[in-house]
Amino acid sequence: MGIAVVYQSQTGSTKKVAEAILGELPEGSVLAPMDLCDTLEGYDFAFVGFPLHAFGPDEIAKGFLSNVAAGHCIALFVTHASPESDGAPLQEWLQACREAAAGSDVIGMFDCRGQLAEPVKKQLLASDDPQLRAWAEADDSEGQPDAERLQKAAEWARQMMSLIGPH
Ligand SMILES: Cc1cc2nc3c(=O)[nH]c(=O)nc-3n(C[C@H](O)[C@H](O)[C@H](O)COP(=O)(O)O)c2cc1C
Repeated sequence: MGIAVVYQSQTGSTKKVAEAILGELPEGSVLAPMDLCDTLEGYDFAFVGFPLHAFGPDEIAKGFLSNVAAGHCIALFVTHASPESDGAPLQEWLQACREAAAGSDVIGMFDCRGQLAEPVKKQLLASDDPQLRAWAEADDSEGQPDAERLQKAAEWARQMMSLIGPH
């Protein structure tokens, strides 16, 4: 039995966080892209990470949480383009992520900023929706997650490991 870090990452930000977490785990722990992981049966604990898409988990993560992670002990990590200080709206979206994992025993959750990928930003800037355009214009997420955020992810992973006990 071991520990898995299962992640979904369309443009690389969540993958960076996944790698920072893996760096804190015992030898033999596994890093697995979510679309290639169809069971958690071989593991006694999993870190499960994905990006926020349209105010909740992306579609692949939704399916994984309800079909594969249900019934397992997990910790969630999420990246988003919004600043962590965004307050109520962001907290609601993160709550939607927790709810999507309601079938699992979730012992903790970490979130941090990732980068809004350039093609996505371009699409939003060309959108007919003035709110989406304004959001893209205000975006300053380039370079995220930065070293400080990756360090925080690593610290959080150590905390989670102390909660689940010796491995
Ligand atoms: C289709 C789409 C929808 C998104 N919706 C949100 C959102 O609702 N809130 C937010 O803060 N970021 C949103 N983002 C930004 C991503 O969550 C952010 O860039 C994330 O770090 C990307 O992770 P990845 O590189 O691992 O795919 C969205 C990105 C995409 C592509």
